[in-house]
Amino acid sequence: MLVNHKMKRINSRARSVLVWALASLAVLAGGWSAVAAETPKYLDPAQPLETRVEDLLARLTLAEKISLLHADSKFTTAAIPRLGLPRRWLSDGPHGVREDVGPDTWANAGHTDDFSTAMPCGICLAATWNPELGFSEGEAIGQEARLRGKDIMLGPGVNILRTPLCGRNFEYLGEDPLLSGVMASGYVRGAQSQDIASCVKHFALNDQEFQRDSINVEVDERALREIYLPAFKTVVQSGGVWTVMGAYNQFRGVHCCHNDYLLNQILKGEWGFNGLVMSDWAGVHDTRQAVLNGLDLEMGSDLKYDDFFLAKPYRDGLQRGEFPLAGLDDKVRRNLRVMIATHVLDANRRPGSLNTAAHQAVARRVAEEGVVLLKNDNHLLPLDAAKLKTIAVIGENATRLHAHGGDSSGIKAFYEVNPLDGIVKRVGGQVTVVYAQGYQKGGAPDLAERAVAAAKSADVVIYLGGLNHDKGFDCEGADRADMKLPYGQDELIRKIVAANPQTVVVLEGTMVEMGAWLDQVPALLQAWYPGLEGGNALAGVLFGDVNPSGKLPATFPKKLSDSPAHTFGPSAYPGVNGTVTYAEGLLVGYRWFDAKNLEPQFPFGFGLSYTTFEYSNLKVIPTEAGVTAEFEIRNTGAVGGAEVAQLYVQPEKPGVARPVKELKGFKKVWLKPGESQTVSLPLTRTALAYYSPEQKSWVAEQGTYQILVGASSRDLPLSSSFHLDQTSTVR
Ligand code: BGC
Repeated sequence: MLVNHKMKRINSRARSVLVWALASLAVLAGGWSAVAAETPKYLDPAQPLETRVEDLLARLTLAEKISLLHADSKFTTAAIPRLGLPRRWLSDGPHGVREDVGPDTWANAGHTDDFSTAMPCGICLAATWNPELGFSEGEAIGQEARLRGKDIMLGPGVNILRTPLCGRNFEYLGEDPLLSGVMASGYVRGAQSQDIASCVKHFALNDQEFQRDSINVEVDERALREIYLPAFKTVVQSGGVWTVMGAYNQFRGVHCCHNDYLLNQILKGEWGFNGLVMSDWAGVHDTRQAVLNGLDLEMGSDLKYDDFFLAKPYRDGLQRGEFPLAGLDDKVRRNLRVMIATHVLDANRRPGSLNTAAHQAVARRVAEEGVVLLKNDNHLLPLDAAKLKTIAVIGENATRLHAHGGDSSGIKAFYEVNPLDGIVKRVGGQVTVVYAQGYQKGGAPDLAERAVAAAKSADVVIYLGGLNHDKGFDCEGADRADMKLPYGQDELIRKIVAANPQTVVVLEGTMVEMGAWLDQVPALLQAWYPGLEGGNALAGVLFGDVNPSGKLPATFPKKLSDSPAHTFGPSAYPGVNGTVTYAEGLLVGYRWFDAKNLEPQFPFGFGLSYTTFEYSNLKVIPTEAGVTAEFEIRNTGAVGGAEVAQLYVQPEKPGVARPVKELKGFKKVWLKPGESQTVSLPLTRTALAYYSPEQKSWVAEQGTYQILVGASSRDLPLSSSFHLDQTSTVR
């Protein structure tokens, strides 16, 4: 009874509260519906995207429309306060959120709140072969971009590594179209989940920095479609990227930022891209072409903003009736679509966060998973700190900070743990760590002498060399002159290893020739540019807290002349009279080494572990869409680790010339000692297809296909085959 009585009391109180609430709601509702009637559709998040776009488009004047199509400072476009449209902020990309520059110069803006998390460079991310990590990196960068007030992040870059000399190889994702596309899509999905638009760049064929503003690329249609475009296509179609940046160079005689074939026909036509195409900074050269050939936003021209090709000259042309108004609306629509899709106009846009422990952890994981163990004779690695008294750390890269370098992709890092600090933090106190610089730009013989003395006095040497972001190495705006280690490092490494055979070489940067010392050095790690947590990640790998699992996303040739772009003379690289001809066609990277039976220094997909893996039991199971390859991997060693299983397809007797084999699937799996896992990799007909220029479509040709599975492009213990009964065109 008592209970009932209480319930009644509560009920009556609840009822009176409800009556009061309803009464207030009624009052509010009157007000609300009045507000709702006035809320324009474009500001109403409940309306479909296209409804909002059309509503906003209809409200814009000609001048306002034009203002959305070009920059009004180095990295912004104009606001339209009358309609509540804020300025749009763009930022580099791709390794984090760049420091602020400008507004009208490339000089830094002198802000003190523009530090951010410096992620490892793009080629390191690719070396993880872990698309989920790509997502995490994109997500973290997206969050940082939001907190820094950015709307569009300029990355990832997916230009194919055609020559080892390209100054921006470090930013890109390697030589293989499938790997680049999958890794970049993960990154884009992550970034865009944070109400940021990614911008995949540079579309297309920006594969060298030499004469990048003007060089004309001639490449046959099949290589274009099968090698240079697929990563972009994947990022558009699976990654759902909102913006694409045109490249500086020309393709078949027309600048890529206003190249009808690339932008209108392929990107927007065939692939159905409905986001916006922006120019690279100052990549536009002609108003008519920019208007008609598919450009939607002009950035960075060295002109007054109103004189940009898509500013006054466009407006004047429209007013003279030289350009269709529908073309203008299409460009504006694409700009508005990106704005609305990323919730620029909505109250609940994601707020973001900067320099969090979680972001730093992502940076560290990418570095840990991206470091590649290339050699480990007699299990020199991992080092056992308990058994060491003295370690000599030698080399300028042990203390050099890289995050801020490389030009537009450089990051003003919140902090950066260099390798020496990482090693000292890991073993200092337990082990004596001595440091010797060993080499420097311009040379200094006494540095080498002191390094050799340090090597002699130590139990183990950790040599940290390689390249850096100085102009002429891994840096935008120029290519490398050769593939050699600079500053006399070949000689130095030889001396060090002669003084102490227990030498671990760690190289930062991109690929170099190693023939001068590789057979004398027992252990070698490729560490790229590992970001702000790089030193900790590296120490983790060196001392076995982390089992390396990175695999090369590009072939390391023994010497530059083995590389396909350097086999056909200057017309194939760096170009003659302003044109570079990709004479190797489809045979880029491992495709070339396979076709020519050339031994690389280290093959595509290669990377060792502190454990061993066994592949077995490959089955090829027919499916509706094609086949599924199923196989087992077992960790046969004593420590846990991750393996990247790779699947290559080799057509047996193709009717057209094809690469010997091509990567068509991969999966990274984590296994405890003794553990095994079944891996399934589906293959559709599209994966078997080549591009037919005659039929202007992809053709999956009937015939027998070998499926090869294993740990690298040159270590494929499992094979099986299947027959495709009918030739068909596929998408
Ligand atoms: C680079 C782009 C970059 C842009 C803005 C250009 O020079 O090629 O990758 O996004 O500058 O900094």
